[in-house]
Amino acid sequence: MKTNLVIAIDGPAASGKGTLARLLAERYRLPFLDTGLSYRAVAQMLLSKNLPLDREELAAEEAGRVDLGRMDKAMLSLHAVGEAASRIAVFPMVRRVLVEKQRAFAQNPKGAVLDGRDIGTVVCPDADVKIYLTASPQVRAERRLAEIEARGGTGDLETIRKDIEARDARDSGRADSPLKPAADAHLLDTSELDIDAAFTAACAIIDKALDAGS
Ligand code: DC
Repeated sequence: MKTNLVIAIDGPAASGKGTLARLLAERYRLPFLDTGLSYRAVAQMLLSKNLPLDREELAAEEAGRVDLGRMDKAMLSLHAVGEAASRIAVFPMVRRVLVEKQRAFAQNPKGAVLDGRDIGTVVCPDADVKIYLTASPQVRAERRLAEIEARGGTGDLETIRKDIEARDARDSGRADSPLKPAADAHLLDTSELDIDAAFTAACAIIDKALDAGS
């Protein structure tokens, strides 16, 4: 029987992959890494130093300083940081540095759950189970707005949906490691599923894959 388990969760912005990946990490008792935070950390460091977002070498230098164990989720979750992250994520030099750190995390003897855009395709192409989450832009915008409102904020649904579509286009259209399902990924459309139902469906996929592999 295998003693380590690597689970790759990919999908577009606001698809619910972060929440799902966290629940799976608890359920299978595995370390968890939200790789989006590492791109956000680079963007945040550039923003806080008033450095431009369009200079690949500068961004790669900040990427070298990212410590995956010390990323402050609250500070990095700002919308503006996500936007900036999506811009610096197009740079191959930045991706090379961060992917190396993410791969080292996935080498944990227990295995790991990683979520992002390129986990199944680039970071962990040999992952035991790959799940690619999708949901319509409208549903993702509604979820994002509910999240903002739950934190006491306000937002405009139409603007959020347009932002999400623009981010999808940038993440899917970049030359290096574009957002796309791995050939061997299980597609899970959560447009009509709440988080409990998505979790149940994901566990069924994982348990079946584990049974087949043991
Ligand atoms: O998942 P997120 O919203 O925190 O990600 C922020 C940005 O980082 C996203 O727009 C694209 C980039 N990203 C990436 O290119 N590759 C990853 N594995 C994770 C995130």
